Amino acid sequence: MALSRRHPAVLATVIGVALGTMGIAYAAVDSSTKPKTTLVSQTQVEEGKALFIEGCSSCHGLAGQGTSDGPSLIGVGAASVDFQVSTGRMPGVGPGIQAPKKKAIYNETEIAALAAYVATLGPGPAIPTAELLDTSGAELALGGELFRTNCAQCHGVSGRGGALSEGGVAPSLMDSDAKNIYQAMISGPQNMPVFSDTTLPVEDKQAIIAYIEQLQKGENPGGNGLGRLGPVTEGLFIWVVGLGALLAVAIWIGAKAK
Ligand code: HEC
Ligand code: HEC
Repeated sequence: MALSRRHPAVLATVIGVALGTMGIAYAAVDSSTKPKTTLVSQTQVEEGKALFIEGCSSCHGLAGQGTSDGPSLIGVGAASVDFQVSTGRMPGVGPGIQAPKKKAIYNETEIAALAAYVATLGPGPAIPTAELLDTSGAELALGGELFRTNCAQCHGVSGRGGALSEGGVAPSLMDSDAKNIYQAMISGPQNMPVFSDTTLPVEDKQAIIAYIEQLQKGENPGGNGLGRLGPVTEGLFIWVVGLGALLAVAIWIGAKAK
């Protein structure tokens, strides 16, 4: 019993070593991540604020609080800014029903700065990380199902867009990248609903993105495409072929009756 494992000195040494290791590990992690990111984002936020005052505040207010020409941006989050500015919707061109998609006028660094600044105004959805946008494990069949139940009523079964009531348009998704598809879902631009992670979990979003990318490649995930023009073509097909067959039968019966 000379060197008992429960000896107070042994216990103290073990605790001391454990605490020391944790401290060193923490210091290493801390110094490798924290100071750098805070430094970068500090200047980024300042840059973003300057760009915001110059290009956005006329409609959104000097502190993003909103004016009669544009909504408040407090709490919309970085994802909404990245989406709106990278698709060229923002800066808006004036009062209108729906800001049109156009060529982005800010570069990537400027967009990141604007997004970082608006994110400081209030908590909101962040720009999705590469990990969230990784669709390699996504289920295509599930994506198709989810797309048809959640998105097709506005964007069309083929994702090529469609008109909405009151003059709005759900745009074609044929040139949207994974990041903007994700950002549209979490920010819900204009008439589009927000698909939060509780209504549509991350894996479901990834499945939808994978499915849209499949549509973009022009592959038919199932069935005969018939040009993928939707119910009109399919209806026309039934009319032409179906009526043709009926007519042929009628003529045949008529011929036999003579
Ligand atoms: C001419 C006025 C105008 C200017 C300038 C403008 N916006 Fe907007 N912005 C609007 C209007 C109006 C809306 C709402 C439009 C809509 O819903 O389609 C809007 C919507 C937005 C949204 C979406 C808000 C949400 O609820 O998700 C963001 C983000 C945004 N603007 C960012 C910016 C940024 C960043 C700039 C500067 C680069 C900018 N805007 C410049 C008028 C403007
Ligand atoms: C109620 C109709 C509606 C539904 C449902 C809807 N959207 Fe949208 N979506 C819109 C509208 C309207 C816009 C255009 C917003 C704007 O111009 O500011 C849009 C824009 C988008 C964009 C941006 C495209 C571009 O031009 O940059 C993407 C991507 C998108 N939607 C994906 C989806 C996905 C994925 C779903 C299903 C999970 C979905 N939407 C469901 C109405 C809808």
